Amino acid sequence: MGLQPEILDGYEPASVERAVAVLRAGDVVAFPTETVYGLGADALNRIGVAKIFEMKKRPRFDPLIIHIGQKEWLPSFARDVPPQAQILIDRFWPGPLTIILQKQPTIPDIVTAGLQTVAVRMPSHPVALNLINALGRPVAAPSANPFGYMSATKADHVAQMFENKLSLVLDGGPSTFGLESTIVAIKDHQIFLRRYGAVSLEELQDLIGDIHKEAKDGTIDSPGQLPYHYAPHRPLAIIKTLDEARASASSLLLFRTPSKIPVSKYTRTLSPTGDLREAAANFFSYLIELDREDVDIIYAEQIPETGLGKAMMERLRKAARKSLRMTH
Ligand code: TXA
Ligand code: MG
Repeated sequence: MGLQPEILDGYEPASVERAVAVLRAGDVVAFPTETVYGLGADALNRIGVAKIFEMKKRPRFDPLIIHIGQKEWLPSFARDVPPQAQILIDRFWPGPLTIILQKQPTIPDIVTAGLQTVAVRMPSHPVALNLINALGRPVAAPSANPFGYMSATKADHVAQMFENKLSLVLDGGPSTFGLESTIVAIKDHQIFLRRYGAVSLEELQDLIGDIHKEAKDGTIDSPGQLPYHYAPHRPLAIIKTLDEARASASSLLLFRTPSKIPVSKYTRTLSPTGDLREAAANFFSYLIELDREDVDIIYAEQIPETGLGKAMMERLRKAARKSLRMTH
């Protein structure tokens, strides 16, 4: 048993001050965002950023998102903001949309894994904004989870994942969206979806029309993302009906409660009313809880693939694909 990271109330100004001091010293803090918790370092401090990669055991070829505190900061870090990007920024920032833009030389190569582009977003969580603005510099942050594992949406899940590696977690309550930001890139005045996330494809299309999806075997990926991301340690299978849940030592992630299920302690229901936003907010924290039970397999009920359901199903498919790899 190692030392637990200290969890401080992120709404206390003194906690934010402590976190800023850690960032200024070139160290890492975990902080809440409206999507998932982030593992942050000063984006302009190469050593701090390198520590993120070490802590997550993340390959250096997988670039990080920078989080800005004001829209006005953008030109200092992105060379060009095309009109489509501006429309998206006006509508979705602050909020859960990440935009890939041409980078300024101010951003160290370690952040972008040597790419000439940088992924940027302005989060809406008040604790995240306070932290970034108090630092006065962008914060580079991946989701706060060991590489390949599911993202944490609660402060205590972060602390458990990084015990004795991390000194400080700012607690801002459970993340309201519960899924990572949606990522888009803009090339030749066209918008490409790079990751399904907390802003649904429909919302993007309503605003801006055509969105290109770069599909490789049914999924959409940023470079560096592996096909078995977001996976629990235990095998996971997606089921259409409860009859398919055959193994006795199993746990069950239901989308909504059907009429006659045996509600065991190994069952979690994402949204009893079938509300996709509520389901998304519970998604990772329930999966992480189920993954801790001593079972042979996690069964996950299929989720309707509209709105946020697409993002959840994509993450479940990746988890199921990893399970297939493990059994071969
Ligand atoms: O909601 C979120 O986006 C959370 C919170 C903390 O902001 N962050 C997050 O970061 O999910 P991460 O590192 O877990 O996922 C970021 C993804 C990675 O798949 C990475 O490959 C991609 O963004 N990415 C980052 N910079 C990129 C770039 N310049 N070009 C293409 N993809 C990029
Ligand atoms: Mg991640």
